[in-house]
Amino acid sequence: MSKEQVFLGVDVGGTGIKAALINTKKGILATDKYRVLTPNPSTPEAVAKVISRMIKRFEYRGPVGVGFPAIIHHGVAKSAANIDKKWINTNIEKLLKEVTGNPFYVANDADVAGLAEVRFGKAKGEMGIVIVLTIGTGIGSGMFLDGTLIPNTEFGHLFYKESVYEHYVSNSARKKNDLSWDSWGKRFNKYLIHLEKLFSPDMFVLGGGASKKFDQFKHVLTVDTKVVPAAYQNDAGVLGAALYAESRLS
Ligand code: BGC
Repeated sequence: MSKEQVFLGVDVGGTGIKAALINTKKGILATDKYRVLTPNPSTPEAVAKVISRMIKRFEYRGPVGVGFPAIIHHGVAKSAANIDKKWINTNIEKLLKEVTGNPFYVANDADVAGLAEVRFGKAKGEMGIVIVLTIGTGIGSGMFLDGTLIPNTEFGHLFYKESVYEHYVSNSARKKNDLSWDSWGKRFNKYLIHLEKLFSPDMFVLGGGASKKFDQFKHVLTVDTKVVPAAYQNDAGVLGAALYAESRLS
């Protein structure tokens, strides 16, 4: 029997950084998740230090996958909406390799969360266009065609009113404006209608904090497209990050 492959998956968020060893063949966590607060300010140096400490705690040597809340083009951050602006144009893969000595594979956080859903979750075996939306501090998006990722879609940054959609429909916008699940759900429904018109998807998968409350707003969703809550809510980030590292190595 072949030895089962385990990779370290790291999920960098605006408030917390999580890591766990992942069995990528089974799509399960091989250890508990370890979470630390994102340093403030969340500069490249400060975050790299935290990740380096986490790796030591797991006594791990090997490829590390990272989900990061920005546009990631060939390992380089090209935006920084909910993280320190110093990340822009930082080659994250290079920086983390220099600091830790481990090889790093970095992608957008929602893209990797989507990978977890496509490989093992609600979108497993789903053909056509699947759009995974993570509803948290911002809105992250992962788009897949027949199971293949089309990276960096950034649908949370589609222009809306005087700003961008994530400022109206993220979980933090819901909290900030003290919206009931009903009123927030109606706003979110408009956003889904917009995406439906643009992309004619076959499925929407909703992840992130707000998706745990799916039952409280599903009755206001009127889109024709099938909408399902994510299978992996808290674990999608670390699981998907490890799957991403594996995909880069195969
Ligand atoms: C960022 C995305 C990220 C999302 C969720 C947005 O503000 O632009 O890159 O995926 O937040 O973290």
